[in-house]
Amino acid sequence: MNKMGKSLVVSSVKGGVGKTVTVLNLAGICELLGKKTLIIDFDIYTGNIALTLNTKFISSMYNLTQDIANNNYQKLENYVVKYDNFIDILPAPKDPRASLKINLAYIETIVDLARSNYDIVLIDTTHILNELNIRLFDKTDSLLLLMENDPQDVRNMKALLKVLNNSKNKKYQIMLNNSTNPYKNYFSAYDLETIIDHKIKYRISNHFFIKNIDDFIMNGEIVTLNKRMSNLFNKEFSQYTDVIASLFSDKDGDK
Ligand SMILES: Nc1ncnc2c1ncn2[C@@H]1O[C@H](COP(=O)(O)OP(=O)(O)O)[C@@H](O)[C@H]1O
Ligand SMILES: [Mg+2]
Repeated sequence: MNKMGKSLVVSSVKGGVGKTVTVLNLAGICELLGKKTLIIDFDIYTGNIALTLNTKFISSMYNLTQDIANNNYQKLENYVVKYDNFIDILPAPKDPRASLKINLAYIETIVDLARSNYDIVLIDTTHILNELNIRLFDKTDSLLLLMENDPQDVRNMKALLKVLNNSKNKKYQIMLNNSTNPYKNYFSAYDLETIIDHKIKYRISNHFFIKNIDDFIMNGEIVTLNKRMSNLFNKEFSQYTDVIASLFSDKDGDK
């Protein structure tokens, strides 16, 4: 126990930029690296990672927060669902009414409990800058911000980076994801970095647009755990590996 693993929050300023798929792809890479990994689905109203991965679950993080509040918490194991020998999931509630009742005061406790039980904790979020995300951004060891090459996304990213810089949060890194919308290429990479005034550390190219991604989803399969895909998308997979490796380097962010 008490091993204190690393946490990575994946977020964005726009929906549909590939956060959830990235979390799953990163989880696959963690498994390949032999790391025991927990995915926390903090997209609490609409998240369905546990269902996406075809797992059946009864408990969710709502039950966890209730039990912590009532002093009934015993072990994290009772609330997570197993995907395979390396990856577990702490699901978002199935019922959105339960999501409304999650006491945000326990967010930090959940992240700490997760870190003390796993090597790596991957946290999926929404793109909304609400109290939940602000607390997660503050608490996590590292924050990966995904953006597309899209004028609106770029503008909003610039605004978010301003907020993070004002609150002295320097632990974020930016990933430009061209795989969700392969025809979006409005700005050059140089323009993008100039506008947001920050380095874009990771780039997932439009080459990684997977036409049959829904087949993976229907089968509950993680792309990065598929041997054929790892041969095809060597370059993208090594970017994901770099993201995970950066969790274990001393450098905070890349500013
Ligand atoms: N590499 C990819 N190739 C093809 N489609 C993708 C890829 N990554 C994500 N998508 C699709 O893009 C959409 C948004 O992805 P998702 O991960 O759900 O975004 P978010 O979590 O940011 O809302 C989904 O329909 C997903 O299947
Ligand atoms: Mg999502």
